[in-house]
Amino acid sequence: MFQIKKTLLVSMLPALLSVALVTSVKASSEHHQHAKDLNFGSFTKENVLLTPKDYREWIFVGAPVTPNDMNDGKPAFPEFHNVYIDPTSWNHWKKTGEFRDGTVIVKELTSVGTKESASGNGYFPGEFNGIAAMVKDSKRYPDKPGNWAFFGFESYEARQGIMQADDACAACHKTHAAQDMVFIQHYPVLRAAKPGEK
Ligand code: HEC
Repeated sequence: MFQIKKTLLVSMLPALLSVALVTSVKASSEHHQHAKDLNFGSFTKENVLLTPKDYREWIFVGAPVTPNDMNDGKPAFPEFHNVYIDPTSWNHWKKTGEFRDGTVIVKELTSVGTKESASGNGYFPGEFNGIAAMVKDSKRYPDKPGNWAFFGFESYEARQGIMQADDACAACHKTHAAQDMVFIQHYPVLRAAKPGEK
């Protein structure tokens, strides 16, 4: 009898061990999650965004392109617009389907390079050309539409952005963007991760 019980216990050991393991992995990932709950924007005393670093390691949500030859040579941004959202705000988006206070969205501009490659004719990314960004923060920008501030940057080397007037950027976003001044209609990655969306 005792012998049987012992065998039973031994045969259950892997299961017991894996329960313990799962519990500890879960605990550590929750801890990890919490540790990652940081804000990615850094600001001057005047609430101007410092030039973001490492955003290419954030969540990439899409790359619209408005090329010169489809816009009479006069698009506002003739490049690919590689759009990234910071990881903390991405986690919040997945849970709530909202852009939280502290959201930083960077749009990196990449020129249209060659228009043909081994795969066919098209628009192929060329070189990095600069960035633009928007930041949602009700404490820093209580008077901005949707609490979003928009920034241009003279170059990657510039230490900080240049706050844009509402009619330069925010007005168009407010009128045409599908949710909270962000053009989620152009980002299947955001739509797919939104709770309740297919
Ligand atoms: C005439 C309308 C218009 C104006 C003005 C405009 N944008 Fe946008 N912006 C868009 C559209 C449309 C997209 C998405 C598609 C694309 O990138 O072409 C976009 C995308 C963005 C994104 C990525 C997040 C998102 O909402 O899609 C950022 C960041 C951004 N714009 C910043 C700026 C800044 C900074 C300015 C002012 C210097 C500006 N925009 C002016 C229309 C506009």
